[in-house]
Amino acid sequence: MSATILPGAPHLQYRGDALYLEDVRLADLAREHGTPLFAYSRASMLSALAAYQRGFAGRNAKVCYALKANSALAVLQVFARAGCGFDIVSGGELERVLAAGARGSDIIFSGVGKTRREMRRALEAGIHCFNVESEPELEVLSGVAMETGTRAPVSLRVNPDVNPLTHPYISTGLKGSKFGIAHKEALRAYQRAAALPGLRVVGIDCHIGSQITQVSPYLDALDRVLDLVTAIEAAGIPLQHIDFGGGLGIVYNAEQPPAADALWQRLLARLDARGFGERQLMIEPGRSLVGNAGVCLTEVLYLKPGEQKNFCVIDAAMNDLPRPAMYEAFHQIVPLQATTAKPVTYDVVGPVCESGDWIGRDRKLAAQPGDLLAVLSAGAYCMSMASNYNTRGRAAEVLVDGATVHLIREREDFADQVRKEKLLP
Ligand code: LLP
Repeated sequence: MSATILPGAPHLQYRGDALYLEDVRLADLAREHGTPLFAYSRASMLSALAAYQRGFAGRNAKVCYALKANSALAVLQVFARAGCGFDIVSGGELERVLAAGARGSDIIFSGVGKTRREMRRALEAGIHCFNVESEPELEVLSGVAMETGTRAPVSLRVNPDVNPLTHPYISTGLKGSKFGIAHKEALRAYQRAAALPGLRVVGIDCHIGSQITQVSPYLDALDRVLDLVTAIEAAGIPLQHIDFGGGLGIVYNAEQPPAADALWQRLLARLDARGFGERQLMIEPGRSLVGNAGVCLTEVLYLKPGEQKNFCVIDAAMNDLPRPAMYEAFHQIVPLQATTAKPVTYDVVGPVCESGDWIGRDRKLAAQPGDLLAVLSAGAYCMSMASNYNTRGRAAEVLVDGATVHLIREREDFADQVRKEKLLP
């Protein structure tokens, strides 16, 4: 018997009572590599990417993976080899994608606070474009480009002021957000960009938020952006590409996000209807390419019955899985070995000294100390946001490919953590 347990995670299945990722039994992985351990399915990442690529087949379009979601070098290699471009937000991410084999021309650089040093390095690498977020940034970038004897390719991130219908911390396209250039100021900013000697205007972009599970906010943003394209081009500034920003949300619990190819169908229909179907198009998905490709394996340390709550203390914590503490996010938690024992309701918590260190609340589990659990949908914004809080070493990571397992990051030990520290004389 085999059954997929999470939509969007086609390679995570129980075979009999044992949970598998592709052809690897996860309990074997946990025993070999220890816990907490992140495991990612290569096939899941590639099938998520393929859904985007199918959606725009035959068009001049490109996926630029937003590696903030998961920046492991081996994950970047998987996407680079599959023809992805990359959306970076720091000099560190630039070095990562170059190390993973990306070409400069496949890179776009987003973010509100690029430093001069980061700009210089990105110009040297010959990136496709800077997604600029303010007029002061335009001025600085023009100056840096002139110093290096080049013209920086720019797209302006405009703020379409639409509600993405997601968590407020990951909504970015509303008025009052620190991101982007206000819709009504965009034309003036483009005129400024076109006049600056160190810049070359190449496109327009927007990003309205993350974990978006409906098509309508994308269509609303697209309409607002196309209105601007019309106005900007009427002012004599041609735009080669349109970039829609981040990708779709994923299923953590009972969400029903559209499929990536269905999103494209709707976007392309709107673009065609408004006469923009031939443009170069870009999208910067992060979560939807990796989120449900990954799980975090963890061991039950203690069961702690209480008057009001029962606690199941595991060896993974908010430093490994920060999303519940930061956004009250939901991640499914399932046993690596299914059982018919009677479940008890627990708050599943980590060892960190914070009440906010919970991974799941009111979960029904038939767990015993020593049992192994998987926290699902852990491929995006988990390891990339992990910290050393409480001097906990960051977890190890493996990439599963069929029955083959690649250790892609060793577990951090104490020496790794204090390498840059100095004792007083
Ligand atoms: N492009 C830009 C400019 C972005 O700011 C983001 C995400 C993306 C693309 C990728 O968006 P995605 O396809 O992953 O939705 N840590 C939060 C999510 C923060 C998203 C930040 N920006 C979380 O764990 O939910």
